[in-house]
Parts: sequence; C-alpha cells; structure tokens
Amino acid sequence: MHLTSYLLLAPLVLTGYTFALPVHSSGQAFLAAPSTLDGRRDTKVLILGGGVAGVTAARALYEQGVTDFMIVEARGELGGRLTSQTFGAPGRQYTVEVGANWVQGTQTGGGTENPIWALAKKHNIITRQSNFSESITTYDDTGDVDFQDTFITSKKQFDRLVASAGRRVPKRLVDMTARSGYSLIGSIPESRYDMASEYYQFDWEFGTTPEETSWLASSWAHNYTFSPESGGFSYDNLFSVDQRGFKALIQEEARSFITPTQLRLNATVSVISTSMYGAQITLADGSVLTSDYVLCTFSLGVLQHTDVRFEPPLPIWKREAIHSMTMGTYTKIFLQFPEKFWFDTEMALYADYERGRYPVWQSLDHPDFLPGSGIIFVTVTGEFSKRIESLQDVQVEDEVLSVLRSMFPDTHIPKPLNFYFQRWHSDPLFRGSYSNWPASFLSEHQGNLRANVDERLWFAGEATSRKYFGFLHGAYSEGWDIGLRLAECIRGGGCVGLEHVDQVRNARPYVSS
Ligand SMILES: Cc1cc2nc3c(=O)[nH]c(=O)nc-3n(C[C@H](O)[C@H](O)[C@H](O)COP(=O)(O)OP(=O)(O)OC[C@H]3O[C@@H](n4cnc5c(N)ncnc54)[C@H](O)[C@@H]3O)c2cc1C
Ligand SMILES: *[C@@H]1O[C@H](CO)[C@@H](O)[C@H](O)[C@H]1NC(C)=O
Ligand SMILES: *[C@@H]1O[C@H](CO)[C@@H](O)[C@H](O)[C@H]1NC(C)=O
Ligand SMILES: *[C@@H]1O[C@H](CO)[C@@H](O)[C@H](O)[C@H]1NC(C)=O
Repeated sequence: MHLTSYLLLAPLVLTGYTFALPVHSSGQAFLAAPSTLDGRRDTKVLILGGGVAGVTAARALYEQGVTDFMIVEARGELGGRLTSQTFGAPGRQYTVEVGANWVQGTQTGGGTENPIWALAKKHNIITRQSNFSESITTYDDTGDVDFQDTFITSKKQFDRLVASAGRRVPKRLVDMTARSGYSLIGSIPESRYDMASEYYQFDWEFGTTPEETSWLASSWAHNYTFSPESGGFSYDNLFSVDQRGFKALIQEEARSFITPTQLRLNATVSVISTSMYGAQITLADGSVLTSDYVLCTFSLGVLQHTDVRFEPPLPIWKREAIHSMTMGTYTKIFLQFPEKFWFDTEMALYADYERGRYPVWQSLDHPDFLPGSGIIFVTVTGEFSKRIESLQDVQVEDEVLSVLRSMFPDTHIPKPLNFYFQRWHSDPLFRGSYSNWPASFLSEHQGNLRANVDERLWFAGEATSRKYFGFLHGAYSEGWDIGLRLAECIRGGGCVGLEHVDQVRNARPYVSS
C-alpha cells in the first residue's frame, strides 16, 4: 500500500486558527507545506483545471465576492479543449482549431441565449456562418458520386429519431440506444452511402456511435442546444476563424478579472487529498497547495484514468457514475497543400466500405473561412480515432492521401506541405474529446457525477451537464452553476451541497428471485 494513501488530516488549534495538519495514519506529522504549519491556507478555493468550466467557476466566485481562489492548470495557458495551433508551411501559417471550433446554437428572438455566443460577442471573436447540412459534395472511392438523396434522407431520419424519442417520454417508456431508436423508426442503413450519411448526422455530432449512445439523452442534448421549440438556442453554427484563436474567448474573459497570482500554470496535479477540515493537492514536482475547498474540472476521461489520485479514494457512488458515462474522441486531421484542388462546398462526405473511415472533409480554403490557405481537414471519431492515435503520423498521412487520391482520381495530388492531428485520447490531460451519454447511464448516475463528494470536494465540467454535455456551453453552465453553489457554501460557513444517491438501484436487466 502506498504510504500516503491513508493520509489523515488532523485538526489543530493554534493561536485562534483551526486548521488541518496532515499526518500519516501512524500519527506522525506530515510536514508537507510551510503554509500548513503557520495555520494559513494558500487560498480558500483551489480550482483545478483552467478550461471553460474552471475560468467560469472563478468568474462566478468573483461575482459573489469570493476572490480568494487560485486556478491550477497543467498547460502553459488557459482554455483547455479550446485549443488552437499554428499550422502551415513557413510564410503560410494560420491559426487552426484542433479542439472546439463552433458556437453551437446562438439565440432565437428573446429565447435562451447560448452563453458562449454572449462571450464571443463580448470579446469580438470573428466567426462565420457554417452551413454544414447544406453545403456538401459527395464522394466514394471512384471519385465524385452523387448521393445527395441519401444524405437528405439521413437528415430526415435523424429528425425523426429525435422527435420519436420525445413521443416516448409522455408514455414513460424506458431508454434504449439510438441504434434501437433508428431501427424502430425503420432506418436501417445498408449501403455504404447510407452508413456514411448516418455517420455524418450522428457520430460526427456525438463523437460516438448510435450503438453506444442513449436515444433519449442524445435527443434532448440536440434539442436543448439547437431546437428553439424545445428550449434550445437556435440552429445556427458559427465557426471561429479568429486568428487569435477561438480560445481568446475565455482567455480575454480571464484577463478581465483574474490576477497573475491567482494563476498557477504549468502545474500538473497528481494527488487530491481532502478531509472534513480542508483540502491539499500535490503537484507533479512535489509541491503542495492547501485550501478550504477544491473544485475539480478535469475531463471525464482524466477521472476515468489513474492520472490523478484521490485521497481518500472516491466513494463507490462517485466512481460508478464516472465509469458509467462515456468519453468520445473526435479527431481533426489537418493537411496543407500548395493549392486547393478540391470541392467548392464547405463540406464533403466520403463513403468508404468501412463505416467511419475518413468520412467527413472540411475545406478551410473557402471564401468564408481561410481563403488561399490551402488547408483542408478530415475528421474521424471513436474507435477509428483510437486506431490512428496508435499509428505513426506518416502512416496516417499515407492513408489519408490514398483516400484523397481515390476521391480525385484525375488530379495529381502532391505531398502535403504540412500535416497534423492531435492525439486527444492518449493525452493524459484529456483522455478523449468530449463526453457522451450511453443508454445505461441513468438520471441518478448523472446527479452523482455532478454532486460534491463532501463539503470540500466539488466537480464541474462539460460532462456534468445534464442538458449540454459535450459542448462548450455545457462547460460554461456547469462552471457558473457550481461556482455559485460553492460561493453560497463559503458565505454560509459550510454546507452539505448537492444531493447524491448512495446506490443507484432502479435499473436491472431482470428481477431475479
Ligand atoms: C476536437 C474537439 C472538438 C470540439 N468541438 C466543439 C465545438 O465545435 N463546439 C462546442 O461547443 N464544443 C466542442 N468541443 C467540446 C468543448 O471543447 C468542451 O466541452 C469544453 O472545452 C470542455 O471544457 P471543460 O472546462 O469542461 O474541460 P477542459 O477544457 O478539459 O478543462 C480542464 C483543464 O484541466 C487541465 N488538466 C487536466 N488534467 C490536469 C492535471 N492533472 N493537472 C492540472 N491540470 C489538468 C487540462 O489541461 C484542461 O485545461 C470539442 C472538443 C474537442 C476536443
Ligand atoms: C510554462 O512552460 C512553457 C514551456 O516550458 C514556458 O514557455 C512558459 O513560460 C511557462 N509559463 C509559466 C507561467 O510558467
Ligand atoms: C452560409 O449561408 C449563408 C446564408 O445563405 C451565406 O451568407 C454564407 O456565405 C454561407 N456560408 C458558407 C460557408 O457557405
Ligand atoms: C425535440 O424537439 C422537437 C421539436 O420541438 C420535438 O418534436 C421532440 O419531441 C423533441 N424531442 C425530445 C426528445 O424532447
């Protein structure tokens, strides 16, 4: 057993302070940090992770007058999965988004506004209207092949999938996978064109397959973001082409209220210890930070791995919730060519015999995006993403080029000037791209994923959002809501926090005697 795995935090009273002095179970004082010895904490709230949820939680605390917080972030900058990169040959470099790129849903009339849209306007993010459902060219391995009819049918089938999930609710029928839903509405893909079209509507949004996804939760998530009739923002998708990077949205926001001393960048957390008296985190370099409260905003994928250790270990209800939700992967593979040789539409769909093999192509060398850039990218998801992450870049590049050569049989396609893709799944700071709700994930699991473990240890991030899991606005809403609750707790001198269910027991495959 690891020496510190039974770390206890013993209360001591000294010159009027009650504070936590960590000791080993042997009772011997564990002299971790000088700050612990003089009875002061480094800060009141440690916010772990400087993505959208972490920065927004800080903002909520700040607005409530709680300014004694510190953000601890492993990377050298804020933004998290809002990640941009300089891409291109020398002299032809552009900022491209390897992570989030769209404001998904804006606002309809006086309806609910997407808070990411509000931030984008506030910080003058340059965006363009994206028409990915309308502006598309279709291909297979013989070249340009028109299967627009199939594509349009797949859009209607997705809408029926979402609508019929709605009809199940008043009847209180149980959840199923989106695959079962598709089959029940009579949508059974057979040809590679059917499969590619369905992939475009479904996997390309959720980052996982219909088999792995809850029919009800995916329908609600879609509606709450896009459908104004169901409380959503709007059907608009705005694509950032801002050369500061889409991350400017949250970095500019952070600059407006966070001081440099409230930020610890390049600081990787390895252990999170809490007790009834307070919290202590240990960084990879061995240094220790102490606080009264800790808010963990690491991705679901990070929580599912053993990159960060919790002391004491997280309770079973929390671990069950963490492992019941799915982390999907969404990988954009960027290529830059001396010049554009491809379609003039915004998008292209390639139908391979294998579902999910280099299917969705997006042109950045387009009058509305980065004209003259020579940049195109292709997106893969799920198991296919994991597969290519384990290959060498040059192997992936070869595969992508052979697909392009079959899509454009009459064109000489040169070696790209530049090639890049981010390995989200193997990255210990992310372990995937965004979360997705499987059919076996129940409402109680969702509440448990979101709930604080005790008064000291809180959680927020896109994955804890019931309505908007997966999206930037999910991360924002959770940061804001949990931040407000934490502020209330602090101002009230303590609290119980959010309720959890000790044992989720409402679903069994069958009742045994
Ligand atoms: C490829 C891709 C495309 C996407 N496209 C869109 C889109 O177009 N529109 C949209 O709305 N959403 C999109 N998303 C989802 C969106 O990016 C996320 O929902 C959102 O950014 C999550 O924010 P967060 O604060 O919850 O988590 P994160 O951004 O993951 O923040 C957590 C932070 O914790 C840090 N961290 C992790 N481990 C440690 C550690 N041990 N120590 C210290 N720090 C640590 C990480 O570096 C990170 O900065 C996309 C995501 C990806 C990956
Ligand atoms: C973080 O690390 C990077 C790369 O080593 C470095 O350039 C940067 O200055 C560091 N930032 C801080 C705030 O320490
Ligand atoms: C999307 O459609 C709008 C309205 O028709 C148009 O102004 C815009 O140029 C289109 N954008 C792209 C990328 O095709
Ligand atoms: C989604 O919205 C549509 C349009 O308002 C509605 O018909 C459908 O029932 C909704 N689906 C769900 C699951 O709520």
